[in-house]
Amino acid sequence: MRLDQDLLDGVVARMLAPPDFFDRIWARAPFHAPGAARACVGLYDGDDFLEDIARARPGPHLVVGAPEGARAYSYHDTAAGLRAAVEAGGVAPLRISDVWHQPDAPERFAWMRALFGSLFCAVSMIYLNPERSENVDLFYAGPGSHLGVHYDTSHTFTIQLSGRRKWVVAETVRLDETLAAERAPDFSPDAAAIFSGPTREIVLMPGDALYVPAYCVHGVTGVPGFPGSVSIGLGIRAFNEIDVVARLLEIVENTRYAAYPPVATCPAGLGAAHRDAKAALVRRVRALLRELDLAVTGIVEAGLHLPDTLGPIAEGAAEPEPAGALRHPETAAS
Ligand SMILES: [Fe+2]
Repeated sequence: MRLDQDLLDGVVARMLAPPDFFDRIWARAPFHAPGAARACVGLYDGDDFLEDIARARPGPHLVVGAPEGARAYSYHDTAAGLRAAVEAGGVAPLRISDVWHQPDAPERFAWMRALFGSLFCAVSMIYLNPERSENVDLFYAGPGSHLGVHYDTSHTFTIQLSGRRKWVVAETVRLDETLAAERAPDFSPDAAAIFSGPTREIVLMPGDALYVPAYCVHGVTGVPGFPGSVSIGLGIRAFNEIDVVARLLEIVENTRYAAYPPVATCPAGLGAAHRDAKAALVRRVRALLRELDLAVTGIVEAGLHLPDTLGPIAEGAAEPEPAGALRHPETAAS
């Protein structure tokens, strides 16, 4: 079996299988798709992760744990140190979407990019840019690891690539409650979140996929007896109108900044000149806002356009290992 775009598209189709996915599940509730990503089993493990993290970014490398509920961070310079910290109960994350558009990105990221591109086309209506749209991480985690109870601001499709990991997820997103808590004066993003409603427990095995909506509270822990879990979190950032306008402004700034000469700056002591300069500033800002107003229609009506790096995988670009020890009976059967 060769890994090709049809196989990756099949993974996406199985992750979104329910016909009413976008009515009942998207942004509302988690969805577990056992075996949906069986085509990815055997493609990536802890050794691959340690090689790729060394290639993808200079150390020291972060390991996250939650020994007392809140997250704790440590940093490691070598692969051996990183592996030891993970085996002691940590999680090593690698934000591959920060580096995978670069020409020298590890080859093993190629199918991950193509899978993300296929998934993005299936679920999102506009693409802003890598920083505002992509949130894709590999996680290498030890058996005693946990990250604490938390929520993310991306819609995340996690695929278990090797090992096992136990998830506890809130059965539904409680968005109003979560956003109200974020507005509280004593809110701390590092504090553990709480489950305020019913939860569900899921053990992810290699080839399983789990969709967790943005703002859905969850906790993830290792499974005793299964060292070296590796999973990929294909996160599609949630966005609001502020993100869209900020992106449009960024485009204007990066492409046509020189078309906007400096405004006159006259101190209050200059009387009428000061008032005229302020009135001119207001007129120019309003003109820019009108321009952005038109651009919003343009960006929405232009449809979804992804960077070439997220396009379909080249024919035969990656070939999975033969089915072996990492392939558990349930996924090997189908
Ligand atoms: Fe998370």
